Amino acid sequence: MKNLRNALLLKQLYQLKQLGYKYTSVTPYKEEKQNFTLPNTLESLKKQAIECHLCELSKSRHKVVFGEGDPHADILFIGEAPGTMEDSSGKPFVGRSGELLTKMIENVLHISRNDVYITNIVKCRPPNNDIPTPIQAHTCQPYLMKQIELILPKLVVTLGATAYHYLTGDDTDISKIRGTVHKQNGYTIIPTYHPSYLLRNPSAKKDVFADLLKVKELMEKS
Ligand code: URA
Repeated sequence: MKNLRNALLLKQLYQLKQLGYKYTSVTPYKEEKQNFTLPNTLESLKKQAIECHLCELSKSRHKVVFGEGDPHADILFIGEAPGTMEDSSGKPFVGRSGELLTKMIENVLHISRNDVYITNIVKCRPPNNDIPTPIQAHTCQPYLMKQIELILPKLVVTLGATAYHYLTGDDTDISKIRGTVHKQNGYTIIPTYHPSYLLRNPSAKKDVFADLLKVKELMEKS
């Protein structure tokens, strides 16, 4: 929780700056009165995230991409970070890789995209579509943790190396770890390739097909 605490203190400093403070004194800052908890509904969590200025990505983003889907979904997909189209629409996976993700969900899992929940490790677009830095990912992590706590998915499908790495702390190569099943905090994680990797390497589609069949099988068993 130290991360969240520091991040919230930083947010307070930004807010004071916006109010016109050129310095801070102990008067506006009363640590003991701070509430370091996050809201307990997805809607209010989204409202908080939309106003977030906890890291430098907030300076260049156009829209915060909180995530979307069934708030009680059994399956949660986690990508890396919003891209250009997501940044302008505020919705996750709406570009070319999003189209492919939607097809994968509909054609392999045989469910609608609206029946799952889709989000990212960081909720704001990194400039130049860079991989999120550890500081950006860790600063944004409380939002993701709270989303998982509120949605309570049975299965979490991480898309690409970055999502799996930041969710689990494991940096095993994605080509070795994809399709394997991991238990963490009451849910099951299945890592697979990121759809944008599939756009560049269509021959890996068969691997993702196999991983999603495993997801389907686990869902049918549960
Ligand atoms: N890539 C991601 O990882 N997430 C998105 O939302 C879009 C593209």
